[in-house]
Amino acid sequence: MKNISSVLEYHDRTKHRPHAYAASLGYMDWATQPDPYRRYHGAPLISLIHSEVTPPYHLLFQKDALPIAPLCIESLSMLLRYSLGLAAIKSHGGSSWALRCNASSGNLQPTECYIIAPAIKGLSEGSTLSHYAPREHALELLHTYDETLKEGSFLIALSSVIWREEWKYGERCWRYCQLDAGHAYQSIKIAGRMLGWECEILPSDTEEIGHLCGLDQYHRFHPHEIESPDMLIRIGKSNTSTLPITPSLPYRANTLSPAHHEWPILERIEKATQGIYPLPPPLHPTRDVPNPSKSAIDVVLKRRSAQMMDGSGITLEQFRTLLNASLFCTHASDVHFILFVHRVEGLEKGLYTYLRTSDDLETLKHAMDENFSWKDLGKGLYLLRSGDFRGAAQMVSCNQEIAKEGAFSFGMLCNFSSSLETHGAIGYKNLYHQCGAIGQMLYLEATSLGLSATGIGCFLDDEFHALLGLRDQQYQSLYHFTIGRAIVDTRITTLKPY
Ligand SMILES: Cc1cc2nc3c(=O)[nH]c(=O)nc-3n(C[C@H](O)[C@H](O)[C@H](O)COP(=O)(O)O)c2cc1C
Repeated sequence: MKNISSVLEYHDRTKHRPHAYAASLGYMDWATQPDPYRRYHGAPLISLIHSEVTPPYHLLFQKDALPIAPLCIESLSMLLRYSLGLAAIKSHGGSSWALRCNASSGNLQPTECYIIAPAIKGLSEGSTLSHYAPREHALELLHTYDETLKEGSFLIALSSVIWREEWKYGERCWRYCQLDAGHAYQSIKIAGRMLGWECEILPSDTEEIGHLCGLDQYHRFHPHEIESPDMLIRIGKSNTSTLPITPSLPYRANTLSPAHHEWPILERIEKATQGIYPLPPPLHPTRDVPNPSKSAIDVVLKRRSAQMMDGSGITLEQFRTLLNASLFCTHASDVHFILFVHRVEGLEKGLYTYLRTSDDLETLKHAMDENFSWKDLGKGLYLLRSGDFRGAAQMVSCNQEIAKEGAFSFGMLCNFSSSLETHGAIGYKNLYHQCGAIGQMLYLEATSLGLSATGIGCFLDDEFHALLGLRDQQYQSLYHFTIGRAIVDTRITTLKPY
């Protein structure tokens, strides 16, 4: 119960309100900007390979369409390059910055990735623990185990350096770290599909994940830059290997900032949300195979967040394809969409809901404004109220115009109290991971359709809930999103990252 009250306290306290945003520094302290790249001093660095041949994007969603690649340096390189690797270097006015395949709030990139694998042809003769270094596209070899891990699958652990987001966003940052972890998971799942590999999140104890990766060896980290374990992912077929024991590691983590700011509530929410990672029941409906499209590499590398939208519309087919694509995140069964539809051909402007599972229809009807029309448009889509919601979309999105100028924008409304009741406090973390995964999927799907998207972490929580007539915390919106056509800033140049 104590952990649940910590979640409720954190969630309420970090809501943005019209005249009081969640607590943060309120300015950019450039002198303490964190290094986006973790490195372990002295750890052997093994270069990975660059392959530019990937299958067509649409085949990633066709069961058994692609052969299962063996685990070797080439396949692991491809998995990491097209999930968490650099996608582009942007430059403008004398400064340049790297963007990655996985979207991240403020591009602060809190998510770190560890690989626990049996012998890998071309890389190691024994079973190893390594850390992915995206700038170098290389693995830092942290440990070679005496024991031999079973072949046929390997593990990826994701963790978050909360400080990276805390530096800019203060108390609300923990939410963004979790959304980013969800984006990273989905990036891995998609890149895995290029290799015919299946990804599955395991019901692991977060403490065990920390132990496995040496993250609980706190003396190796600056005290304000420790990493919080997020999830453990199995790639490949299920086998019964138990987790290996990681001994004390000799490599110290680099220090990311010369000084830090303290937001004590972050430690409390992180502590409260530890435990066995929950696995909500998978969604029943699955996504349709999309129309033939570009090569997967063109989608994952060209995915970019729109900073401005041009105010043009999209077709109903594109709209339906985007909604349907979200069903590929079968593990994200606690999330529904509340949509502000501005410009979709053949659909009147208005407020809609897309129920990703019909299970919640009656409870949602009961929870929301009783005057909503609930006009059934098929396949989970309902019109709640017609009208021009462009101003409302911009207002709830912290006044960001992208929410108004996209073809549509939406909030991800989650089964908040039932998730906490079923899974305990860690259910809160899991809900953000579900939303982040959907976000990454929709970024990619929009890119494949020649459209653009932007995740919106900055929104006015209760203004949005009030618009829906929600009176309590049964459902809460945890992530917002907009999709449309981007105006590209031609002053910014793009270079290849490697
Ligand atoms: C969780 C999350 C929240 C975000 N929130 C916003 C936002 O409120 N406004 C915005 O313009 N961009 C937002 N973004 C977009 C990021 O700024 C963008 O992903 C980052 O700068 C990297 O650029 P890229 O997506 O083109 O790789 C968000 C992204 C994520 C993943």
